[in-house]
Amino acid sequence: MKVDVLLGLQWGDEGKGKVVDVLTPNYDLVTRFQGGPNAGHTLEFEGQKYVLRSIPSGIFQGGKVNIIGNGVVLDPLLFKQEAEALAASGHDLTKRLYISKKAHLILPTHRVLDAAYEAAKGDAKIGTTGKGIGPTYTDKVSRNGVRVGDILCDFEEKYAKAKAKHETILGSLGFKYDLSELEAQWFEAIEYLKRFKLIDSEHVINGYLKEGKSVLAEGAQGTMLDIDFGSYPFVTSSNTICAGACTGLGVAPRRIGDVYGIFKAYCTRVGSGPFPTELFDADGEKMRKQGNEFGSVTGRPRRCGWVDLVALKYAVMINGVNQLIMMKSDVLDNFDTIKACVAYKIDGVETSEFPFELNDKVEPVYVELAGWKCDMTKMQSEDEFPEEFNAYLSFLEEVLEVPIKIVSVGPDREQTIVRYTEE
Ligand code: GDP
Ligand code: IMO
Ligand code: MG
Repeated sequence: MKVDVLLGLQWGDEGKGKVVDVLTPNYDLVTRFQGGPNAGHTLEFEGQKYVLRSIPSGIFQGGKVNIIGNGVVLDPLLFKQEAEALAASGHDLTKRLYISKKAHLILPTHRVLDAAYEAAKGDAKIGTTGKGIGPTYTDKVSRNGVRVGDILCDFEEKYAKAKAKHETILGSLGFKYDLSELEAQWFEAIEYLKRFKLIDSEHVINGYLKEGKSVLAEGAQGTMLDIDFGSYPFVTSSNTICAGACTGLGVAPRRIGDVYGIFKAYCTRVGSGPFPTELFDADGEKMRKQGNEFGSVTGRPRRCGWVDLVALKYAVMINGVNQLIMMKSDVLDNFDTIKACVAYKIDGVETSEFPFELNDKVEPVYVELAGWKCDMTKMQSEDEFPEEFNAYLSFLEEVLEVPIKIVSVGPDREQTIVRYTEE
């Protein structure tokens, strides 16, 4: 069997959590392969809403096993809070949530370093989620990290060594902080982590594949936030793209099966950085309001704009997407006209190729399509789609050269329409 990968094609928050939950019944195992609690994946069903940060979105369907893979960075304290909240609502995960021993730990000082680096950047700050993601991946790559498996042996020593390095840096930056309370809670959370099965996840995942079981890998963030191919330096610190599933789980490239690429019918971004199709007018405000575009982790208003097909086509290419999923179609229900960016004009020259960087010179070139002006939220099959909506889908499929297999028309699990299209 193969690992199917589901990932965001824009700047995150495309609706990955919702769709992973919907697709989980088709799989034996669901895994996260990168990122950490910078993610906020929202699921809604039976009148309940859950936001997951580190725990994969497959945990609500039929007792399936879920794994936090080696490519993830884990904050034990935030993990404990997340798992305890789920346990309080009747979802005890200790028996079916496994954690890779090779996942790196986010230390309290990593969070402080994140804040210190952002403060030092001033106006050029990334607008990170403040969860210590960058500093933890930096330590991983510079071979100074502390891993989940380390909590089982000589942990205090390893922790102290890493912390001392961080304190030297923070001292040189003159950054003031107080760790006393946070550190004590963090160590309690380390003990809590030991209730879970800490595993060599690469063996377990490949064992599943060998037995003919199916695996779904759940991406976090989005392709435009990828450390290599995103809008650098305004990106996160991991490979959010399909290739990240190989290194973040320990599966060979030839083991990758379907690649589901998720995008919103429009586009959003949180934090700083370029966003060519961003709207600063009433249309952008309307998207934010209709789409409830406020960060699920930070509560920050999300920047909104039209769909960017230059960036989407690039994301489809980088990831080898063979199935597209369009989310939040209902948010555009009340627009007379829908715009889609089909090219960029740079120094007066039009191109549909994604450039080296998205700087101030990049101007979007739009085509306009008619809006459908009706309520899509109660639709249950593609037979009910209005003509204008079908025209929008066909247009996107033609440009992106990949079929749109699923259309989402609301936040609930039930508001998901699988289309009949053939590949
Ligand atoms: P993720 O990070 O990719 O999992 O996405 P988030 O959960 O951060 O953001 C997506 C938001 O849109 C959440 O609040 C979802 O409940 C909501 N959502 C998902 N699909 C739809 C949809 O089709 N329509 C509407 N209106 N909301 C949706
Ligand atoms: P999900 O999985 C949207 C953004 C931050 C910031 C940049 C770097 O919910 O789609 P970081 O804390 O990772 O160092 O921040 O990346 N960012 C996200 N934006 N959705 C996310 O996750 C994000 N995770 C990080 O806003 O611009
Ligand atoms: Mg999110």
